[in-house]
Amino acid sequence: MQRLNEAKKKRAIEPWCFPVSIMGILILLIIFLPFISTDKLDQRGRSQPCNDQECRLILSESMPRHLKYPKEAPLFPSTFRTWEDLIHMAQHSIDIASFYWDLHRGEGLVSSHRSPQHQGERIFNLLVKAGLKRKLKVRVAQSAANARFPDNDTSVLQKLGAAEVRSLNFTYLLGSGVLHTKMWIIDNRHFWVGSANMDWRSLTEVKELGLAGINCSCMAQDLAKVFSVYWYLGEEPQKPVPPHWPTAYSTHINRTNPLSLFYNNSKTPSLVYMASSPPPFSSNGRNSDIDALLNVVSGARIFVYIAVMDYTPVLQDQYGKKYWPVIDDALRASAYSRNVTVRLLVSKWNHTNPAMVYHLRSLLALNGIMRGRIEIRWFEVPAFTPEEKDIPFARVNHNKYMVTDSCAYIGTSNWEGSYFTTTAGVSVVLSEPHSAPYSGSNDSSPSTNDNTTTIRDQLESVFVRDWSSKYASSVTIPG
Ligand SMILES: *[C@@H]1O[C@H](CO)[C@@H](O)[C@H](O)[C@H]1NC(C)=O
Ligand SMILES: *[C@@H]1O[C@H](CO)[C@@H](O)[C@H](O)[C@H]1NC(C)=O
Ligand SMILES: *[C@@H]1O[C@H](CO)[C@@H](O)[C@H](O)[C@H]1NC(C)=O
Ligand SMILES: *[C@@H]1O[C@H](CO)[C@@H](O)[C@H](O)[C@H]1NC(C)=O
Ligand SMILES: *[C@@H]1O[C@H](CO)[C@@H](O)[C@H](O)[C@H]1NC(C)=O
Ligand SMILES: *[C@@H]1O[C@H](CO)[C@@H](O)[C@H](O)[C@H]1NC(C)=O
Ligand SMILES: *[C@@H]1O[C@H](CO)[C@@H](O)[C@H](O)[C@H]1NC(C)=O
Ligand SMILES: *[C@@H]1O[C@H](CO)[C@@H](O)[C@H](O)[C@H]1NC(C)=O
Ligand SMILES: *[C@@H]1O[C@H](CO)[C@@H](O)[C@H](O)[C@H]1NC(C)=O
Repeated sequence: MQRLNEAKKKRAIEPWCFPVSIMGILILLIIFLPFISTDKLDQRGRSQPCNDQECRLILSESMPRHLKYPKEAPLFPSTFRTWEDLIHMAQHSIDIASFYWDLHRGEGLVSSHRSPQHQGERIFNLLVKAGLKRKLKVRVAQSAANARFPDNDTSVLQKLGAAEVRSLNFTYLLGSGVLHTKMWIIDNRHFWVGSANMDWRSLTEVKELGLAGINCSCMAQDLAKVFSVYWYLGEEPQKPVPPHWPTAYSTHINRTNPLSLFYNNSKTPSLVYMASSPPPFSSNGRNSDIDALLNVVSGARIFVYIAVMDYTPVLQDQYGKKYWPVIDDALRASAYSRNVTVRLLVSKWNHTNPAMVYHLRSLLALNGIMRGRIEIRWFEVPAFTPEEKDIPFARVNHNKYMVTDSCAYIGTSNWEGSYFTTTAGVSVVLSEPHSAPYSGSNDSSPSTNDNTTTIRDQLESVFVRDWSSKYASSVTIPG
């Protein structure tokens, strides 16, 4: 009780990305309604505290081979390890929402344990085993196959009877776009959301970031509702997007009614919700990804750190290309009006859109007349060996996250218009207290008063590590 009052007081004066009054209501709910089941609360249409005492949230990263950081730099479990663990943990079901599949690189190809394809094959084989030998229910929703992404892996899974696969044709559903979500849900109890595609490169050749939740039923069940939207739409080739989603798809968890989650035995709650795009896929109560993103930006008081592969204020869809300054405006406004430091870490590789640098320089142009600052760096993943140079569409920082002084945002979308209007993605937003920031020195495990780190803390340490690494270089205005 004492602690909760303290937390409440602290929050009232601290920067926060949810309205303070909502916090008050939540705290009352935490005090008075700890044992009321989710179902009862759902029927009454109120937000609920989450009773997942065992919930563990864990960041995961893929590190491209041969990338080197100082010894003291923060390090998290690999995407490979995380996926492997999730498959092993499964007792009933594995649901995977994915863009395309290329884990296996050709049927019958047997690579050695040292080859870069090995980890992808291992995941593929574990999924086959899960479906066939372990008799788990494996379901895959994917973007419809095309010449560039033939999705041979999922055809094989389906032919073997290891998985049920549904494909979504966005040209039919929305005119343009793809299913770009990367999300795993295990037994409606564990989950992973992040930047990594179902591609062997995503495990060893591309830099990725994701969030795993173990024993986090509240979050997993909400993400499962997003999966069920894809599952519904993929049921048959010409199933249109319904004008209103049936109530079974609705959520009571959103920005104004977030989950109050005590993960990793924390004494202070994190406020959590899951957003999705595109808006036509949003069931009742679901925040759109762009609203979540903008809200996190505008809630920042000190800094906004963004790591994303592609950033351009342009929307390109079936109607052509148009200027789309939605995120640009929010970043400028934060730096201009609120003395916020905006740092943008974008990716330089062989496929960087040449227009990107012009847009980035336009953001930099206002430095000097704003209260805050906008700083931008490229992150480049070198190819260290001839073999690495030869791998197409690899060696890139593929991250899609943001961390501010009060929030962590982990998404699956690049920051360009169509990702928020016609392409499907999800994001997880965690609002949590700011503790000692990572200083870039030996202090790699910042801790709060109760000796725990938060995902926000850890994400900040990831950002600072990359921003100050030798792979980052400033974007500047020439002349
Ligand atoms: C994928 O399958 C198609 C036919 O369905 C085949 O032509 C192609 O060679 C396969 N690709 C790989 C890499 O196995
Ligand atoms: C997707 O839908 C479009 C428009 O309905 C259609 O022309 C196209 O053939 C479909 N693609 C696939 C792979 O089914
Ligand atoms: C998840 O919960 C189960 C059952 O309560 C427990 O045995 C397991 O250790 C938990 N896993 C983690 C990673 O906390
Ligand atoms: C958020 O959820 C509450 C119910 O929990 C609902 O009343 C509200 O309309 C939802 N917000 C949005 C934007 O859908
Ligand atoms: C703006 O923020 C910086 C650090 O983020 C701080 O040093 C400075 O005093 C602030 N300026 C104003 C006018 O608030
Ligand atoms: C990028 O492309 C150039 C020219 O095609 C090639 O020489 C280089 O190796 C490529 N870099 C990577 C990392 O693939
Ligand atoms: C880390 O600690 C070691 C020994 O305590 C010290 O020599 C080194 O300079 C520190 N590194 C940084 C970046 O502060
Ligand atoms: C908190 O962290 C400090 C330093 O890492 C450690 O010495 C101490 O035992 C921890 N306390 C608890 C209660 O875990
Ligand atoms: C939560 O606990 C797990 C171990 O169970 C640990 O790997 C992870 O880093 C912790 N998460 C945070 C945010 O401290």
